[in-house]
Amino acid sequence: MISFRPKAKFDKDAALILLAAGQTHPKLKSSLDKGDVFPVAEGKQVLVFLGLGKADKLSLTDLRIQVRKAWGSSFLKKAKSVEIVPHSKDEAAINAIIEGVLIGAYTWDKYKSKQKDDTTVKDKQITIAVDQKSSFVQTAAICQGVTLTRNLVNDNADVTTSDHLESTVRQLIKGHKNISLELLNKKELKAKGLNFHLAVNQGSHREPKLIIVKYNGGKKGEGYTAIVGKGMTFDTGGLNLKSSNSIETMKIDMAGAAAVCGILKNVLSLKINKNLLFVLGIAENAISETAYKPGDVIIGYAGKSVEIGNTDAEGRLVLADAFSYLVKNYKPAKMIDLATLTGACVVALGFDYTGLFSNNDELARDLVHASNATDDRAWRLPIYSEIADYIKSPIADLKNTSSVKGGGACTAAEFLHQFTEGATWAHLDIAGTCFVDGSNRMYFNHGATGAGVRLITNYLLKN
Ligand code: BES
Ligand code: MN
Ligand code: ZN
Repeated sequence: MISFRPKAKFDKDAALILLAAGQTHPKLKSSLDKGDVFPVAEGKQVLVFLGLGKADKLSLTDLRIQVRKAWGSSFLKKAKSVEIVPHSKDEAAINAIIEGVLIGAYTWDKYKSKQKDDTTVKDKQITIAVDQKSSFVQTAAICQGVTLTRNLVNDNADVTTSDHLESTVRQLIKGHKNISLELLNKKELKAKGLNFHLAVNQGSHREPKLIIVKYNGGKKGEGYTAIVGKGMTFDTGGLNLKSSNSIETMKIDMAGAAAVCGILKNVLSLKINKNLLFVLGIAENAISETAYKPGDVIIGYAGKSVEIGNTDAEGRLVLADAFSYLVKNYKPAKMIDLATLTGACVVALGFDYTGLFSNNDELARDLVHASNATDDRAWRLPIYSEIADYIKSPIADLKNTSSVKGGGACTAAEFLHQFTEGATWAHLDIAGTCFVDGSNRMYFNHGATGAGVRLITNYLLKN
């Protein structure tokens, strides 16, 4: 819970007081350097001062990082209620502070035994000493979508199964009007010929699922924007089995579908006035005697054949069928997919920038704009007409791997592009950004980050 009031009252268990260079406080004898976290006991209260350094040198990212650091300090652990006294009334700064707390404080500890002497209060009552603005309430709401996504990604692959994702979606949309759901299970996928999707799931005993939620929040006759997520609940690589050091984190391979859930949650809570399709292509790329094989040629929903160069390039297959099915049956005006598609994208951009691909400069520009506004970062990478040569096959219309060594993120994007049938489309490769494997990165703790949720929610709000 987060609330706002215009003036600081210092009546909570604790106060977190942000001070930029030059700002002082009567309880503080000396000034603070940037990053200093300094507690002062005040009766039953604790005042925690956070030094921010020169305000004009402080980026909003840095502000989130500093707030997360103070929030996680031992001085605030036990507080049930905390008043935050910001250094500035600037709207963007307050929004960053909210995210520094709500995103920065998130930790995944479902399977950790609780220490008996641990008195940490996780769900704190938060008050910010500033006039309430609608964007503050909005930011806090969007953080809830981010949290949902992170929880889905962080849990075991055998917990976040296709059934679990289906019931998550059903729970989100329950009781809402103007919304309907189409579900294709194995039987329907077979009957309709989504053979790429089926092939990828062939080694698994779990149900493959294509979930399509149709949300009519916009005007009648206005085109639909489809938000499509890769939902590989686990990616072993299939018969092209992944090795140690790359298989361990592959429960995250449904982060695209999990982001779609988070975005759906946000769209409903913010009542966004648009016509939207939320699409989850869910499968498990398991290793088994029944698994699909390298060298197979498969004909997908659109009638195009694909030679399987590598069973580990499975995400593009599931997405290709999802695109084809959408284009044929829903005719979306725009499609935006989120997918943990390639390790190559991580090589190209690292962990702080999602790879953005698009066949439309305006859409790419709007997404970059949303990425800058939210700090959910994306960087455009190229697709171009000649790149299509690299995914040709001598025995099929296409191959799911590239004939050249470099540029794997781009050739994967081009593979998707071939199934968009001219629809305005963008692809977000979140392989690097969706998860922190080490201890922490920026204002994210270890584990899922919710990459793409803030970005797409903002895009939908602003376009
Ligand atoms: N899910 C992986 C991509 C991935 C890698 C996500 C690292 C997150 C972190 C994807 O299905 C995959 O295995 N891609 C292959 C493609 C290759 C076989 C052409 C890859 O990137 O190595
Ligand atoms: Mn794979
Ligand atoms: Zn994968």
